[in-house]
Amino acid sequence: MDSFATLIRTASHEQHMEAETSTFMSDLLGGRLGVEAYARYTEQLWFVYEALESEARSLAPDPVAGPFIQPELFRLPSLERDLAHLRGPGWRSSLTALPATRAYAARVTECARTWPAGYVAHHYTRYLGDLSGGQIIRGKAEQTWGFARKGDGVRFYVFEDITNPAAFKRSYRQLLDAVPADDLEKQRMVGECKHAFTLNTAVFRALGEEFPLSA
Ligand code: HEM
Repeated sequence: MDSFATLIRTASHEQHMEAETSTFMSDLLGGRLGVEAYARYTEQLWFVYEALESEARSLAPDPVAGPFIQPELFRLPSLERDLAHLRGPGWRSSLTALPATRAYAARVTECARTWPAGYVAHHYTRYLGDLSGGQIIRGKAEQTWGFARKGDGVRFYVFEDITNPAAFKRSYRQLLDAVPADDLEKQRMVGECKHAFTLNTAVFRALGEEFPLSA
């Protein structure tokens, strides 16, 4: 079998294309949406990362998920600074999750509590994506809405404690290859990764409905 990192990447390729080319993402990257849509999207990310990171401490000793818990990846503090910038100091009181976001966060929490290998699939789908395509989104956001480069509003995309993202991704893929799981469990993880992409696409669809382009 190919390395697991290669397998999970290849197997989710189609779902990746679908997420990348979703109407909401295309409109966002095409500079066709207002900053309100970007803020609403950032709010949804808060719920997803809250689910990923609030369980991180309890997963740290886990033999499967533990090696993936790396504080330099944590995004919640950066998201909170971005939201304070986008929404103002009272951002927390107006924060709401779309139903699709609630479903996504609930699945992450469920995996974290009952199936660490499934949690790893969600971890991979978000953090490796943020380290990759996230950088394209950051550049577009800075350009479209005038955020300071790597500053408030786009801190979510800036991994201050990862000086060499390419090297970090290489070692992350080594962690994937070393995951203590048999072939069947690895197939289940690939399935959960595809599910994670579907959950992301559902959030994009809901955001697209909330922010249709007036023709
Ligand atoms: C318009 C939005 C997006 C763009 C432009 C984009 C772009 C990219 C690019 C260029 C890479 C390759 C990086 C490399 O080879 O190291 C990548 C990798 C990745 N992206 Fe995206 N992406 C987008 C959306 C997403 C979304 C929504 C997700 C999932 C939530 C995602 C998850 C991933 C993952 C997991 C990888 C790592 C693949 C691997 O090397 O194993 N991406 N993305």
